[in-house]
Order: sequence, then structure tokens, then C-alpha cells
Amino acid sequence: MQIPLTIPDFRFRRLRKTTALRELVRETHVRMSDFILPIFIEEGIDAPVPIKSMPDVYRYPEAQLAEIVQRAWSKGVRAVLLFGVSTHKDAIGSDTWTEDGLLARMIRVAKQAQPEMLVISDNCFCEYTTHGHCGVVHDHDVDNDKTLANLQKQVVLAAQAGVDMIAPSGMMDGMISAIRTALDAAGFTHIPIMSYSTKFASAFYGPFRDAVDSSFKGTRNTYQMDPANGREALAESLQDEAEGADILMVKPGIAYLDVLAHIRANSARPLAVYHVSGEYAMVKAAAAAGVIDEKAIVLETMTAFKRAGADLIITYYAEKMADWLNT
Ligand code: PBG
Repeated sequence: MQIPLTIPDFRFRRLRKTTALRELVRETHVRMSDFILPIFIEEGIDAPVPIKSMPDVYRYPEAQLAEIVQRAWSKGVRAVLLFGVSTHKDAIGSDTWTEDGLLARMIRVAKQAQPEMLVISDNCFCEYTTHGHCGVVHDHDVDNDKTLANLQKQVVLAAQAGVDMIAPSGMMDGMISAIRTALDAAGFTHIPIMSYSTKFASAFYGPFRDAVDSSFKGTRNTYQMDPANGREALAESLQDEAEGADILMVKPGIAYLDVLAHIRANSARPLAVYHVSGEYAMVKAAAAAGVIDEKAIVLETMTAFKRAGADLIITYYAEKMADWLNT
């Protein structure tokens, strides 16, 4: 006996019939202009040092920065995020506001190598302090306001060196208004700030600590956010918006898509997501073990970031995306 079927009037599958139809109704698109490539530059090395847990990612000598920027540009990358690995560390990270320090040198070299490349500096202290914390340590904790005063000096120097955008990652309270005030007072009213506005204290940063050769052993739980807190995550980004952040950010990415969507729904500012070292390392390890299709996984991940509300994506895959988007 034939069992009667009740089919609803609307059939979703009608628009899934052919590739042309599916592409016509696709809601989310990934393009090269979405991406920012992080670059690690280390003092005192003369050949690239591979980062063990991050295949295809290296710490490069300063002498190769120009070449790395030019290569990225020729592949279609239009924005880079510079991280310095300093050998001139002290308790406060003073190299970051020294005119001939690593941060200023990297910015000058990158801008000169490709003037049209958008050069962004990661503005923090952890790679320039002997203890590895993101600021001045006092009584076993990072002193917020003393750190802000140093950050003001750092960002003014970065602007003088020619940086196109400032990206403070230290999660200090009031950091955006401190930076905006300092930049404006020094005549840099036109330099935008991309705030690491909602940054969680995450185990996904593990391989980054390798990447920057960090001897850091503690936690950043007194300044980075508790991964359990969704409402606070929104409040952090809205606070930075109120202080004048031009672009907001959620970091890490895949475990925090709800946070991205929540901020997207409550702010009109551009929103970035940082696809961090641990996310990259996990895909690479699974691909090397032959258990996933790397390209498909990465394209799906980038699409999910945009669907959740990200306008821009910081990823170690930025250069590789050029190959994958063109095939
Ligand atoms: C430091 C900093 C970190 C990352 C970027 N800047 C790590 C941390 O907070 O310990 C992580 C980047 C990554 O994991 O890819 N302020």
C-alpha cells in the first residue's frame, strides 16, 4: 500500500539543483581583500626559523621582511600585521618606544617595500618584556594605567614610523581612549585603531607562544577575558567602540562564533576575527594525519567567520587563500 505524503508547498531543494543556481543565491562570499597576514620578525637570526607546530609559518630575519611583504603583495594580500620578536627585552618593553627599536624598524621596512600595502602593528609588550606579560608588572599583576602610559608612547612612535593602522592587543581597560588621545595630540588623527576588543584568555594561543619564542609561563587571566562570558564579551567591544575604536575584533575565531554574531548585531563598526595559531595548528595536524581535506576545511571556516558577522579575517592562511580562491 502506498503511504500518502504531505509535501509542504515550499521546496528548498529547488535552488540547490545546479552550481549556477547555488552560486546565485549564496549569501556569503570570501575574497582576498578580507584577509590580513600576520608576519613574525625576529632579531638576531639570519635564516627563517620554522615554527614547529605551525607548518609553513616561520620567524623571519629582519633582512627578509621586505621580500616577505613583496611576496605577499604579489599573491594578492593587501594587509599585514607585524609581530616583532625582540632580543632587547626589559621589564617594561621600552624597545617598543625607542626610535630605532624593532617595532619602528619593521614598520619603516614594510612600508618602504610596498607603500600600498596596509601595514598594521600589533601593539603590545609581551614580546619585548623579560617576564612576557603584556605590560608593566607591579605586585605580581599587570598595572593597567602605567601600561597605558607606555602604550601611548609606543603608538605615537609607530605612527611616526609610518604605520597605517594601530592594533592594540593587551586588553588593558581604557586602552582605546588612551591611544586615541595620544595619536590625536601628536597630529595623527587620521590613523585608525583596530582594537583586539574582545580577546579571550585562550588555550588556542599555545602555538603562538612557540612562534614568538615566549618564555612566558603564567596566565593572562587578569587582563584577557574568561571564555565563559558572552555578555561581558559584547560589553568589552561596545566599550572600545565608545572610546573610539574604528574596527572591533573577536579572538579566537571558531570557538567564539556566537560572540561574533552578538557583536555584529549590536554594532555598526567593521568587525574582525583572529583565526589564531591553535586553530591553524589543529587543521595542519589533522591534514598531515590524512583525516581532513585542508582546503575544504579552511574555506568552510573562513565562510563561517563571514556568515557569523566578520568583515575581515586575520589568518596565517592569508597567502594560501590566494591559491585556493583562484582554483
Ligand atoms: C599577545 C598576543 C597573542 C596573540 C597575538 N598577540 C597571544 C597571547 O595573548 O598570549 C595570539 C595570536 C595567535 O595565537 O595566533 N598579546
